[in-house]
Amino acid sequence: MSLRVKVKERLGKRFDDEIRFFRGMMQGPKTVGSIVPTSSITAKRMASVVDIHSGLPVLELGPGTGAITKAILGRGVRPENLVAIEYSTDFHKHLQRTYPGVHFINGDAFDIQATLGNFSRLTFDSVVSGIPLLNFPMAKRISLLESLLDRLPAGRPMVQISYGAISPIAANPDRYHIQHFDFVMRNIPPAQLWIYKRG
Ligand SMILES: C[S@@+](CC[C@H](N)C(=O)[O-])C[C@H]1O[C@@H](n2cnc3c(N)ncnc32)[C@H](O)[C@@H]1O
Repeated sequence: MSLRVKVKERLGKRFDDEIRFFRGMMQGPKTVGSIVPTSSITAKRMASVVDIHSGLPVLELGPGTGAITKAILGRGVRPENLVAIEYSTDFHKHLQRTYPGVHFINGDAFDIQATLGNFSRLTFDSVVSGIPLLNFPMAKRISLLESLLDRLPAGRPMVQISYGAISPIAANPDRYHIQHFDFVMRNIPPAQLWIYKRG
């Protein structure tokens, strides 16, 4: 395949993702919470927290068009070792077609126990989350974080993207530790990355 055809195909796919994202945003602005897909730089930074040697599965929340899914798989995580929860049925269908083998669940991450179903007893290596936490009440964010940390070994992270200046989850040093992980300018809008862990 010539370089020109390859570039055209890549741009076509990116454009498809952006159109799909825009449609999703128009249908559910509160649940989508952004204007364009996550940049590959941000996605790679988020995926960098995964310990590919742990042998444990990874949990992704709100994969959307799959930018972060791609980066997690790019780290060497096997598709069958990735469980991802996506609320939008449209995104979910697209993800299943694009990343065969990944366990995509169409459901609500805030109802994590029921949504995980057969996967609810797993211990995960880490959680990589793109869900727009700021659009949900603080009590829901905290309770989601607690139930996610219950599914990780002590010290393993949940990484969260957010667009505000401060952590989208309020501090509670007795329960979990918050770390500002990165600020990525090359993202629309520029993104803050936060890490939460216990132990
Ligand atoms: C900012 S977008 C993620 C963008 C994604 N990283 C990409 O590049 O396409 C947020 C995603 O979280 C999903 N989402 C929102 N609320 C959710 C929930 N409660 N459970 C699971 N997914 C949710 C949305 O449907 C959307 O796909």
